[in-house]
Amino acid sequence: MKRFIAILSLLFLPLSDAWAWGQEGHSIVAEVAQHRISAATLDKIGKLLAAESGSNAVSLASIASWADDYKFEPAGKDTSGWHFVNIPDDQPSYNQARDCSKPCLVSAIEKTKQTLANCSATPDSRRLALKMLVHLVGDIHQPLHTTDRTDVYTSKDDRGGNDVPVTFFGKTSNLHEVWDTGIIMRTVYAWGSYVTRLETSWFPGRDLSSLTGGSTADWANEAHQLAHDVAYDAPDDGILGVKYFTKASPVVDRQLAVAGVRLARILDQAMASCS
Ligand code: ADE
Ligand code: ZN
Ligand code: ZN
Repeated sequence: MKRFIAILSLLFLPLSDAWAWGQEGHSIVAEVAQHRISAATLDKIGKLLAAESGSNAVSLASIASWADDYKFEPAGKDTSGWHFVNIPDDQPSYNQARDCSKPCLVSAIEKTKQTLANCSATPDSRRLALKMLVHLVGDIHQPLHTTDRTDVYTSKDDRGGNDVPVTFFGKTSNLHEVWDTGIIMRTVYAWGSYVTRLETSWFPGRDLSSLTGGSTADWANEAHQLAHDVAYDAPDDGILGVKYFTKASPVVDRQLAVAGVRLARILDQAMASCS
């Protein structure tokens, strides 16, 4: 019986395990980016994707969650570690030797950026790099994708809050899932309306010049700090409601908006080199 239960829980593992912003978060980041990329970039992306989509029309949102399916396919199994970088919660910042000795989110963004900008790479590999990049730039802005906490008693790491049970407005969840989807869905249920909300209420009057710079490691450090200060600042009883949401929601807004701006810039830069 024990074996049966173990096999059953393995079967359901991918469903219960949270891996990334949910589809909504990735769509929001991609759409914010699409509003900001140049016409030339849009045109080149359309041509690159056309072999697969059969059309030159571009919807970055529609490709933004592909990477979360790909890691479960045989061809993509080596990419599952690309979706996070576990900078320990008790450490101040990213250390490549410690946190990325195997491929991680930071190195995966660098690698896919290079492939996309490499005009001699095959269209297939550039297309794969594009789809990865649109997804991974979202992931690196999800605070709990840049950290984990080690339990002092069991010495087990919590996989960015995946192993921290909570209730969120009465619903059973885990801390990671609350950040992947819970806060977003509670704010605005439809991702398109979330984008409209950011465009009409978050962006106007905002000085973005200081946000577009910085290295991939800087973005990981920024998200890691937010995880420490906000995401992990949860009550011990794991009961999350208005107080937690009120502090977390502006951080989620900011991270989704900034991720979109940065993604647009990366795509403009990477696509500029090839015709
Ligand atoms: N698996 C292990 N650590 C993780 C993290 N920080 N985010 C998502 N998945 C993980
Ligand atoms: Zn992911
Ligand atoms: Zn996740």
